[in-house]
Amino acid sequence: MSRRRRVYEGKAKILYEGPEPGTLIQHFKDDATAFNNKKQDRVEGKGVLNNRISEFLFQKLGEVGIPNHFIKRLNMREQLIREVEIIPVEVVVRNVAAGSLAKRLGLDEGTALPRSIVEFYYKSNELNDPMVSEEHVTAFGWANPQEIDEMIAMALRINDFLSGLFMGVGIRLVDFKIEFGRLFDNEMMRIVLADEISPDCCRLWDIETQDKLDKDRFTKDLGGLIEAYQEVARRLGLFVDNRPGDGSGPVLVSSK
Ligand code: TMP
Repeated sequence: MSRRRRVYEGKAKILYEGPEPGTLIQHFKDDATAFNNKKQDRVEGKGVLNNRISEFLFQKLGEVGIPNHFIKRLNMREQLIREVEIIPVEVVVRNVAAGSLAKRLGLDEGTALPRSIVEFYYKSNELNDPMVSEEHVTAFGWANPQEIDEMIAMALRINDFLSGLFMGVGIRLVDFKIEFGRLFDNEMMRIVLADEISPDCCRLWDIETQDKLDKDRFTKDLGGLIEAYQEVARRLGLFVDNRPGDGSGPVLVSSK
């Protein structure tokens, strides 16, 4: 097999040059990191689960009209994506107080927020991804006002759709982080959802037990990270008993 050119390597993923111009291969690693790489480990099988979960969520979002970079899954760890120019801003949507918001504002974890809140963080490992305002985003030219409006509108639509999807399988979507990119199509430029959506970048709590089914199991040393990610995949109908499922979709959880 010919050696592929590595375009970028991040904490949890590698991007390789794709087979056609304008495409990339996104490879999901088993590496788990937290606190800007200060805490690191390898969690066997995490990349496979994130690849499958992210594929499912991007496909579903595409079906409801959220444009995104996903083309197709290639194998257990890799997916073919469209090459985009990543906007250097992480967009976080929150429904429930947790994590850095709970800490910053002294809120009890688990308190429902008065409405969904959208936040921006500047993507910079050196600076620890500082929180920034729309003013910073436009003043420093990371995105223009129209792009910010599009990102906020898309982030809220994604939140509505994913909240409902996860609620149907007994999971509360507490918060999540997404990234957007500019897709150049001939003379046209569109903002599309990029990167990944997986338990690595969402807070997912079991509605009944409040158990954490996300990366906080690693960050907070709770153990059972793979089992939690497998549970998310199983409920979404993607894996049954640790084997690939028939992919027929979410397993509905009845409310009592
Ligand atoms: P936070 O409460 O730590 O700010 O995280 C908010 C959400 O964003 C949470 O679902 C985890 C996700 N997130 C990432 O995916 N990557 C990051 O670097 C950070 C800080 C948060």
